[in-house]
Amino acid sequence: MASRRLLVTAALPYSNGRLHVGHIAGAYLPADTYVRFLRMKGAEVRFICGSDDNGVAALKTARERGIPVEELTAHFNKRQRLDFEGLGIRFDIYGGTHQVDFAELHEKFSQDFFLKIHEKGLFTKKRTKQLYDTQADQFLPDRFVKGKCPHCASDKAFGDQCEGCGRALDQIELIDPVSVLTNTAPELRETVHWYLRLDQIQGRLAEWLAQKKESADGGANWRPVVINQSLGRIEAEGLPERAMTRDLTWGVPVPLEDPDAEGKCLYVWFDAPIGYVSFTAKHCLNNGEAEADYANWWKDPECSIVHFIGEDNIVFHALTWPAMLLATHDSESLQGEKGEYQLPANVVANSFLNIKFPGKDEEKISKSRGTAVWIEDYLQHFDPDPLRYYLTAIAPESARTAFDVDDFIARNNGELVNALGNFFNRTLTFAHKYFEGKVPAAGDLEDVDKELLTKCVEVAKNTTEHLEAYQFKAGLNEMMSLARTGNLYFDQTKPFLSRKTDMEACGRAINCCLQAARTLTTLMSPFLPESAEKVAGMLNIADTYQDWDAAGQDLLADGHALNEAAILFKKLDAAELFDN
Ligand code: MF3
Ligand code: ZN
Repeated sequence: MASRRLLVTAALPYSNGRLHVGHIAGAYLPADTYVRFLRMKGAEVRFICGSDDNGVAALKTARERGIPVEELTAHFNKRQRLDFEGLGIRFDIYGGTHQVDFAELHEKFSQDFFLKIHEKGLFTKKRTKQLYDTQADQFLPDRFVKGKCPHCASDKAFGDQCEGCGRALDQIELIDPVSVLTNTAPELRETVHWYLRLDQIQGRLAEWLAQKKESADGGANWRPVVINQSLGRIEAEGLPERAMTRDLTWGVPVPLEDPDAEGKCLYVWFDAPIGYVSFTAKHCLNNGEAEADYANWWKDPECSIVHFIGEDNIVFHALTWPAMLLATHDSESLQGEKGEYQLPANVVANSFLNIKFPGKDEEKISKSRGTAVWIEDYLQHFDPDPLRYYLTAIAPESARTAFDVDDFIARNNGELVNALGNFFNRTLTFAHKYFEGKVPAAGDLEDVDKELLTKCVEVAKNTTEHLEAYQFKAGLNEMMSLARTGNLYFDQTKPFLSRKTDMEACGRAINCCLQAARTLTTLMSPFLPESAEKVAGMLNIADTYQDWDAAGQDLLADGHALNEAAILFKKLDAAELFDN
């Protein structure tokens, strides 16, 4: 990978609640790890996120709490920002589709987008029947109506999507619909909406997705679940037109001078992904560039766009969003010509996380049942890296996994403390105690020493390959294998004995351990940034450890002075956080 340009996004969280470990494991942590890796590789990256403020989710919660929706979304936008910061998840910008500093620009981008598609003739205006709550005296958009899924019969189907099978739905397809506002059966009334002609775009979409599936480079890294849910959907059922407007006033107004557009907003799943674009533009402005410079990231084939999401977002990011992008194109090119919106290079989706509390069965994370580990709570007790470590170690990359509280503690104590932390600690302490805090001479290496150095090179190479392929769990395991090998080498070469009999051999062993520690510092940095920074200070390599390609190559010189060693990770106790 030569120096590249990438725009990386993580799904915009709804600003109607706090973040828990499932959110972090799903999209934000892998995205942050990837971005850190890319930057260390010398790539030019923008990392974009912010809250999804519009639409029904926030409106519903605000209504339940009896506060204005602006207040609710501002509150949670800020909370999320702090949670991400606390975990070392560093966006270049954290916007919000209806936050004070962003709403105006976001509205403009969303409306321009809508108008461009309108101009291309890819909306049909349709007079249809929609569910109306006669008691609340309003149309019921999306998640204000619940019912049974017409596809899978799950009773967890909402007016926009079924939680059972993940399919996008139109509310009038729901069986036995119920208004969540009043718990009454709504009636059908006439309204007007603008429908995106997905049927007109699906041919190009299918071709694009098939390319991703087939092409060896790039396409090979698309996760099967993403291709299956998107391409599979087109092949199985085809894509019906979808309404992109709603009878709602909280959101982006429909920008048409048409009496039928009055009192209507863009569908939240229409405006939300445009948030990625409008926040990019805002970042350009904040950076002293022009608003129009967003196009350097969005409309330039030289820049790759990568979306990190949870699996419930696959349909919207791998079908609807690319369809919207294609709908703005003048050219027939599948990816987009220079000057046109580029389709994503990848959509990286994780599954959900279950949770397992001590003495209880594994269960789904649920806000209402209180079965979640909230980031805010976690950060009051613990450092970010143990959580980053655990959530990557159990990353739900191909299937659901569980956050098991006992396992979290066990892995922290067994892997971070006993394997990784211990390797740094014993190596550095030894160098301070017997070599005046300097890297002892390597001297003539023996086979066992050469093997360790070769292992450093191999681990660096494998970790790189895993990260480039979005295999974060495998990358972390690879990095940890070097810590384990380092500990074995230490045990085997026994510097604690040779220091009494053969100072040269002792120095050689510590030199090699320090080389492995130096390699580890770089390789752990995308996963455990805070700890990597600390240990880089101890090894006195703060200036160089962020150069990814130096891992395994760049050796500490004989006589290089080390700084004071300190404990890197500490043992944790479940009782500190989880009393149930
Ligand atoms: N708010 C949505 C969710 O949490 C994700 C929106 S992603 C975006 O499921 F692309 F639409 F912004
Ligand atoms: Zn279903």
